[in-house]
Amino acid sequence: PSLVAIVPAAGVGSRMEADRPKQYLTLDGRFILDITIEKLLSCALVSQVIVAVSADDPYFSQLSMANHPKVLRVDGGVERADSVLNGLNKALALGAQWALVHDAARPCLLVDDIERLLEQVAADDDGGLLAAPVRDTMKRASPDGFVDHTVNREGLWHALTPQLFPTKSLQRNVAAALAASIPVTDEASAMEWAGHHPKLVIGNDTNIKVTRPADLKLAGFYLQHEDN
Ligand code: C5P
Repeated sequence: PSLVAIVPAAGVGSRMEADRPKQYLTLDGRFILDITIEKLLSCALVSQVIVAVSADDPYFSQLSMANHPKVLRVDGGVERADSVLNGLNKALALGAQWALVHDAARPCLLVDDIERLLEQVAADDDGGLLAAPVRDTMKRASPDGFVDHTVNREGLWHALTPQLFPTKSLQRNVAAALAASIPVTDEASAMEWAGHHPKLVIGNDTNIKVTRPADLKLAGFYLQHEDN
């Protein structure tokens, strides 16, 4: 396969204050993770979806996508980047040239967005990511909780997912950044650390990460109003 998707889904989702990890909450009767996997598979170029799940996860087997022939389960890790690395190792074993990494907790992704990212990154070895320009005024806080200064928001972006990179290079750089204890909160940060300049591709604002309780309502609203 030339393109696989990797879905880190091994987080505990403590900010959600729910009885289970957020990827297993339901929207309109469907698990968030099921919705996310289906979205990725609706892009014809994605040949497999590799999902990183905690070894002792009791929920995955309840997904309707759990036994889909294109869905593969790997173990998650301590941090998101460890989970992604396990997925990348699997992707390499499958011979996938490109890896599209997408958070389990972003079920409102539109196929449009995936296609725009694939088109705009094309064969660029630096890869790229969906992102959105920052809208609010940004403050740098001092440790006492007061404003230290205002950060110029010109040129500041929110990093979203999916993020698209050549599998080998991403695997090498995530592994090396983790070994060097560099914070790797997204794939692009590992690539940047290794000297690459990933492309910022404007993503849809509705592609939110379900993190806090209010996000769940918003995600439900967006899903109900999707027209593709
Ligand atoms: O915690 P955060 O919102 O940054 O998590 C983003 C994604 O990474 C979620 O889909 C979560 O399930 C996943 N994750 C993971 N392994 C971890 C921590 C988070 O796969 N150890």
